[in-house]
Amino acid sequence: MKFEDDIRQKKGKEKIVVLTAYDYQIAKILDDGPIDMILVGDSLGMVFQGQNNTKQVTMKNMIYHTKAVARGARRIPIITDMPVGSYHTPESAEENARLFLEAGAHGVKVEGNKPETIKGLADSGIPVMGHVGLLPQTAEVYKVQGKDPKEAERLLQGALEIDRSGVFTMVLECIPEKLAKRITENVNVPTIGIGAGKFCDGQVLVINDMLGLGDGFTPKFLKKYANLNKTIKEALDEFSHEVRIGAYPDDEHTYH
Ligand code: KIV
Repeated sequence: MKFEDDIRQKKGKEKIVVLTAYDYQIAKILDDGPIDMILVGDSLGMVFQGQNNTKQVTMKNMIYHTKAVARGARRIPIITDMPVGSYHTPESAEENARLFLEAGAHGVKVEGNKPETIKGLADSGIPVMGHVGLLPQTAEVYKVQGKDPKEAERLLQGALEIDRSGVFTMVLECIPEKLAKRITENVNVPTIGIGAGKFCDGQVLVINDMLGLGDGFTPKFLKKYANLNKTIKEALDEFSHEVRIGAYPDDEHTYH
């Protein structure tokens, strides 16, 4: 069965688990675990490059990271985010999406309501993940979307349109739980929430955030399942201390 059909069939039956990855080693760990899809998100602009947003991320960056992830993930489908400027027209979208497939991705993610582009990609056999709600590539400020009824209706209509255009799943980012539930109940494909509450068909998080690698990003929706920031700092302290007192390298870690 095609991976996108497998994902579609989980709607209403089984929750879908998605995490981002940007490098070989993390991808390899995810590939051995109970995850349904890996997203090479353009969030790498923030967590990998140290930018303030995703707007500087290029095709070259995304191809580089997709290749690294694909070397580690041999089993789990990889979806690559199409970066800003890479899908202005259906033609450029297809050309660029094919570069991601060549790099090892199995599908692409497109932000916002781009029915023609999504249809063009889907009709040419490229699995497309949609993205509704907070759209980091165009947002001026990161805040919850769809709080007032008019905006909620606009987001619902957008979700219905990209559903009809041929996405196999869609991300719902930073929207109230009630709206996410309404969208989830009204679209045919599974919804994957991030800051969109428990009624979505699945959840995605940025791996650096859920592992507690950074220490500055603390939105309400984020649950840290580990505190790697602290673990790394403790390891650094221990290493520095041992080097300074001459305890490392000891006999065990020395060639004789
Ligand atoms: O870029 C990204 O990691 C994303 C997820 C937050 C859905 O788009």
